[in-house]
Amino acid sequence: MDDRHHHEIAKWERRWIAASGLMTLMFVILIAYSLATEGAHIAQLAGRGSPQTLLQQPLFTDPGVRVVGPNQLQVSIVGQAFVWVPETIRVPVGSQVEFYLTARDVIHGWQVENTNLNVEVIPGEVSRLRTTFDRVGRYRVTCNEYCGIGHQNMIGWIEVVPASQWALDTAVGDATVATDAGAAVDGAAVAGARVYASNCAACHGPAGAGIAGAFPPLAGHAAELAALDGGRAYLVDSLLYGLMGQIVVNGVTYNGVMPAWAQLADGDIAAVLDHVVGLGGPAAAPFTAGEVAAERGKGLAPADVLTLRQRVVAP
Ligand code: CUA
Repeated sequence: MDDRHHHEIAKWERRWIAASGLMTLMFVILIAYSLATEGAHIAQLAGRGSPQTLLQQPLFTDPGVRVVGPNQLQVSIVGQAFVWVPETIRVPVGSQVEFYLTARDVIHGWQVENTNLNVEVIPGEVSRLRTTFDRVGRYRVTCNEYCGIGHQNMIGWIEVVPASQWALDTAVGDATVATDAGAAVDGAAVAGARVYASNCAACHGPAGAGIAGAFPPLAGHAAELAALDGGRAYLVDSLLYGLMGQIVVNGVTYNGVMPAWAQLADGDIAAVLDHVVGLGGPAAAPFTAGEVAAERGKGLAPADVLTLRQRVVAP
């Protein structure tokens, strides 16, 4: 290769290197610009481990709002098919909020409408996000990653309230409209309806009618089950351990997965079972927290609960 030819190639190589260097620089400037002026957030990875280990951290065994300093809040949220737990988060306007999010089952996308808060929520990872809500309002939280048949019902809320109101709410213990600790405060019926609305209604419908072929109806069916021999224990187990496999309800076949709800307090599980049984059937003897506690620690798998169901349903 003669020298002139070599120089010609080297010249073009330098041009290409310069051009790609310039593009890289441009991208960095654009990112820096959006971070500085648009208030964009980069979610941080704040932890990694098996999903079970993460969910056993104090942050996630009782997710919700915690005060960690003057005007500083820590909010933990668990995404699971097809709810955000807790469903509603209430924070005072102007406070610094640090969100910690993880998923129980599959990947979900946590997006707060009309804000730039948008983060992927991944099982086995904790995403961290800091923000300050400058305006009072009620923000809807949606799931923007397809996670299953109830994906579009996976809705949550962030209520940004004046600081004075928030302080008042907190004083009466209602900063988080959480899924536990309510049973003793409200009447059991109110607690049951509340637990149902935030955890069950997304799939089984607000009145327990279900969706034919996708989510079995509870209205009427739960009452039938409760009346059967071993039916009450089965209902408790289906909440504690979930249910997987093919079932037939009112002649319609369902082949889905019911997630476990063991994270709910015993009293809340009892209350929501009362609610569910009462949706269509005659009033039964109320479920008790003790009845739920007795089923804990059995370590059943969702498939075991299916076997249990078959034993209960078949005479
Ligand atoms: Cu969760 Cu889509």
